[in-house]
Amino acid sequence: MEYLGAHLAFRSRWQKTDQELCRHSMSFVLHQALRQDFFACYLYLLERVPLVKLYALTSQIIDGEMQFYARSRNFYKDVPATEEGMMGDFLELSETDIESSREFLRKFVGGPGQARTEYALDCGSGIGRVSKNVLSPVFDNIELVDMMEPFLEEAQNYMEEELDKVEALYCYSLQEFTPDTKKYDLIWIQWVSGYLTDKDFLDFLRRCKNALRENGIIILKDNVAREGCILDPADNCLIRDIFILRSIIDKSGFTILSEQKQEGFPELCVPVWMIAMQ
Ligand SMILES: C[S@@+](CC[C@H](N)C(=O)[O-])C[C@H]1O[C@@H](n2cnc3c(N)ncnc32)[C@H](O)[C@@H]1O
Repeated sequence: MEYLGAHLAFRSRWQKTDQELCRHSMSFVLHQALRQDFFACYLYLLERVPLVKLYALTSQIIDGEMQFYARSRNFYKDVPATEEGMMGDFLELSETDIESSREFLRKFVGGPGQARTEYALDCGSGIGRVSKNVLSPVFDNIELVDMMEPFLEEAQNYMEEELDKVEALYCYSLQEFTPDTKKYDLIWIQWVSGYLTDKDFLDFLRRCKNALRENGIIILKDNVAREGCILDPADNCLIRDIFILRSIIDKSGFTILSEQKQEGFPELCVPVWMIAMQ
């Protein structure tokens, strides 16, 4: 707390500069950038966590937590329960995505000291695209969790013969969902973390940690911003940069085992990364 007094002193000095500088001048832009980084470092010293900058940034971007969650629910009401709906109109990328996910997963399961292949949980599963194509060839039992009931209903057709492996379908928002303790060998979280606030995502990861069995792992696959944190206006989804993701993972108590960028997506797409953690 000894830093706090100085923090406040600097803040009031900076406020004065704010009022004096021309808003359109380069000095003002430079002043803002310096100030942002200064406070990020400052807060790092206070909390020892390089995450604080992010909390402020993300809350600014989402413009109120309740509206943030309401907007994504509204968005998904109009999304068809199809592969195309799950891929946000980029259906042609689904095969490449699945192929890379299978390859990535293979590195972490089935071998000595690796995750076993009994139970997997697919978070933000939608209709079960990942469950059917990536998880069911490897795991004996699969569970799906998604906030949209129509998607889970469709999962029961879409999974076809793989439906035998589906042990449970949970209709929950991840921010309200607690997976069973010490049950899963793998928890897969794809294209859904951006619908959670930083804090809810962090808390969810912590709950997932309790839900893993010995040698169990989490694989997070998501869009990754080139810098900072942005909001995709199309579906109201946060896109975090890799440093922000790493710091959330670190804070949740996980260690990153491996990170891999998705290859084969067009250059104009936001980069997608796979991160395995334990
Ligand atoms: C882009 S789709 C991806 C579906 C699936 N992971 C895949 O890769 O095919 C996003 C999914 O996340 C779900 N979702 C969004 N926000 C959620 C939340 N807060 N809790 C649970 N599911 C959520 C949506 O209903 C949707 O099924």
